[in-house]
Amino acid sequence: MSSADTTRSTSPTGFDEAAIRAQFPVLTDEHGSEVVYLDSGASAQKPAAVIDRMATFAAHHYANIHRGVYGLAQDADAAYEGGRRAAARFVNADPRGTIFTKNVTEALNLVARSWGEENLGPGDQIVLTELEHHANLVPWQVVAQKTGAELVWVTVQRDGSLDLSPLHEALAGGRVKMVACAHVSNVLGTILPVAEIIEAAHAAGALVTVDGAQAVPHMPVDVAELGADFYGWTAHKLYGPSGIGILHGRREVLEEMPPFLVGGDMISVVTKEGATWAPVPTKFEAGTPPIIEAAGLTAAIEFLDGIGMDAVREHGLEITRYALERLREVDDIWLYGPERAEHRGPLVAFSLDYAHPHDISEVLARRGICVRAGQHCAEPLNRAMGVSATTRASFAVHTTKADIDALVDGLGEVARIFR
Ligand SMILES: Cc1ncc(COP(=O)(O)O)c(C=O)c1O
Repeated sequence: MSSADTTRSTSPTGFDEAAIRAQFPVLTDEHGSEVVYLDSGASAQKPAAVIDRMATFAAHHYANIHRGVYGLAQDADAAYEGGRRAAARFVNADPRGTIFTKNVTEALNLVARSWGEENLGPGDQIVLTELEHHANLVPWQVVAQKTGAELVWVTVQRDGSLDLSPLHEALAGGRVKMVACAHVSNVLGTILPVAEIIEAAHAAGALVTVDGAQAVPHMPVDVAELGADFYGWTAHKLYGPSGIGILHGRREVLEEMPPFLVGGDMISVVTKEGATWAPVPTKFEAGTPPIIEAAGLTAAIEFLDGIGMDAVREHGLEITRYALERLREVDDIWLYGPERAEHRGPLVAFSLDYAHPHDISEVLARRGICVRAGQHCAEPLNRAMGVSATTRASFAVHTTKADIDALVDGLGEVARIFR
């Protein structure tokens, strides 16, 4: 599906690959040399600074938040609210509209349930793209079934880009209330034209929810400039801990939405008859939130700040370009997604005519090469592509060209076994 890409990049200035790699214990411990981690799209490895920050916080500064006046509780409040400010600043969003959830899946469910059930009805339309991860697809299916709203699909073309005509036609019809799309596809790598989508949706009076899970870790993102009404991402793909997701919402929209989960902390007054809600964002954070994880997220953001997101993107481009080039040397390989690295996030999904993705990943695993095989939580996309599964290699700041060479050598072994 993809043909030769002849462009080459120079090494980004200031990107010290060895120094970055040295910060990941899993790559430097006694088994580190045996690991070629090419599964950061599923979840990223953690640098020592993130692990240490969480351990230090848990050991010396931990308490519950919002409830104590003693020193430890104040430390915990500072860490948690500091995490919120760091997350908002990292993508230029409003901290007062920044909500912590369990992951991006929960963030997107929050929008679909809380905003969708309140604002959608029979005849309204929700526009989705075929390349959505299930996290930004199934919640909208469920809310459509509950409210009588219809789904409209933006289709994916053979080159991995979107045909936006169904979006424009639907918007012209005047019934679209929500457009939900990924910023970067987790299978094709496609960078979606989100600014264009948001502008068109807003011109037609529709809101936009963006799933930024595969974008925020790999490129500079400016939520305010994009103007997304809702933008979600997830810390564990950004070298941070699992258990914490981030939702940025426009405050005036969040103010009007009912809470998603109810219980402790998110209330203002509770009587036997009912309750009123705390202000946004606390209204959407019921129960004890991910406090240690917020401290870890701050450390992950500082880790990326230390590299610089422009350099992160440059490195991702260089590695993706090299991966496309080297993978094109493999016989009978199918590469999915845009031909040019510039149009992609740092991942490549592929298939071989003669070996199932599960067999490919198993042969690679014997050499310590970690890739993912399957549908990557995007079944409708796999159907649209006409494949039952693919193998995906996804990259990170610690990925080297030697890692890509190891992958290509491993595919040579797959060919020897299965061809
Ligand atoms: C594009 C995209 N959206 C959503 C998710 C779900 O992330 P989480 O499991 O952290 O909710 C993923 C994870 O693979 C993803 O790649």
